Amino acid sequence: MPPITHVSSPLPGPQGAALLAEWHQYEANCVGYQAPVVWDHASGCVVTDVDGNVFLDWTSGVLVANVGHCHPHLVEAVRTQAGRLLNNYESPTAERIRAAKMMVETTPPNLDRTFFLSTGSEAVEGAMRIAKRYTGNYEIISFTGGFHGRTYAAAGAGGLAGPKKQYGPIMPGVIKTLYPYCYRCPLGMSCESCSMECFDLMESLVQASSTGSLAGLIIEPYQGAAGFIFPPVGYLKRLENWVREQGIIFILDEVQSSYGRTGKMYAAEWEDLRPQLMAIGKGIGSGIPVSALMAEAEVIGALGPGEMSSTFGGNPVSSAAVIAVLEILQQENLVENAARMGDLMKSRLLEIQEKCPYLGDVRGQGLVMGLELVHDKNTKEPAPDLVRRVIDEAAQHGLLVGSVGIFGNVVRVAPPLVITEAEAHESLDIMEDVLMHL
Ligand SMILES: Cc1ncc(COP(=O)(O)O)c(C=O)c1O
Repeated sequence: MPPITHVSSPLPGPQGAALLAEWHQYEANCVGYQAPVVWDHASGCVVTDVDGNVFLDWTSGVLVANVGHCHPHLVEAVRTQAGRLLNNYESPTAERIRAAKMMVETTPPNLDRTFFLSTGSEAVEGAMRIAKRYTGNYEIISFTGGFHGRTYAAAGAGGLAGPKKQYGPIMPGVIKTLYPYCYRCPLGMSCESCSMECFDLMESLVQASSTGSLAGLIIEPYQGAAGFIFPPVGYLKRLENWVREQGIIFILDEVQSSYGRTGKMYAAEWEDLRPQLMAIGKGIGSGIPVSALMAEAEVIGALGPGEMSSTFGGNPVSSAAVIAVLEILQQENLVENAARMGDLMKSRLLEIQEKCPYLGDVRGQGLVMGLELVHDKNTKEPAPDLVRRVIDEAAQHGLLVGSVGIFGNVVRVAPPLVITEAEAHESLDIMEDVLMHL
């Protein structure tokens, strides 16, 4: 089979170079590092730039295009809806009601209300506000390395320095505790020696810091921005039980882990979690801006009429997208595909890890995996400089990747869930070649 990817000249090509110059002149320069590629159009897992170069995509935007770029059913649903009704604010529409019902039917069974918003940060802010209102308390437990968005309370609950730099003092009442980072266990444990001592530490940190006004706990099922860090199996269920014993609200931030990304519809399903509030974003619209806060009716009932709203939340086009995305995921068995292709890709990445002196850790589940690059596998010295080279070299060979990580040293493996075996192997061949020539 001829290769799918094709890059004809050193990047950026001529059209791309001209547009990038204008981009740097007119757009604010505070976004993360990207390969010098100006996207033109995309379909499924394949992205074409303005110079006609063709790439495979391991970014899904930023874990957004779960059903693949420009899925025809999604495009048609959005197009049709845009011709009928674009805006309504809080008035109900048939598609909004159907979307809310479908959300309730797919999320954990205790979540029986949907509130539509536009961004993940907004859903997280709403969740913390409701937890405080419901309990009458104000302290929120959150985790080192956590990322919940860039708005004030979301950044305050986050555990990465970047979003908070010179933005402080951050939201008061946040109790920060430790997220398990097994590759760099701060307690010096290995997988073999671990008895989840980090859980006991989490508990004692909270006990030492709380003034007795605990409202809730917010956690990502795996940490995204911190470097696709997965807690040990059983940690989240144990945490949920502990949260319930405290009588506080369990908020699960599934903004990026949901919609099939981990090989289950929601990451909560891996340990049968029952959060009382769950924030969802990114893949829910697979390219159309929409987010949702899923809630237990009693908990979200703490807010009375008129106490929460969002200008574009539940707008007809977003609602049509929510419906179309759920239909596509079900009709095309994309969650199963994510699990299957994730296994295939992970086993090849683990083989590459054996050979590559800089690939310190390969971790993840389904189609969200992190490749943690280090200068030395013994010292584990982070190698953000190598990640940048990987981003550029991979793009030059036809593969688009991004980076994350507390140390900026993790390559993201997060293709759309529609990825085929041929696309997986071709993209892995490119990544192997790049990693072996660092
Ligand atoms: C886990 C998590 N929560 C919240 C957010 C914030 O979402 P948004 O950028 O849509 O506000 C993100 C975005 O990356 C995220 O990964």
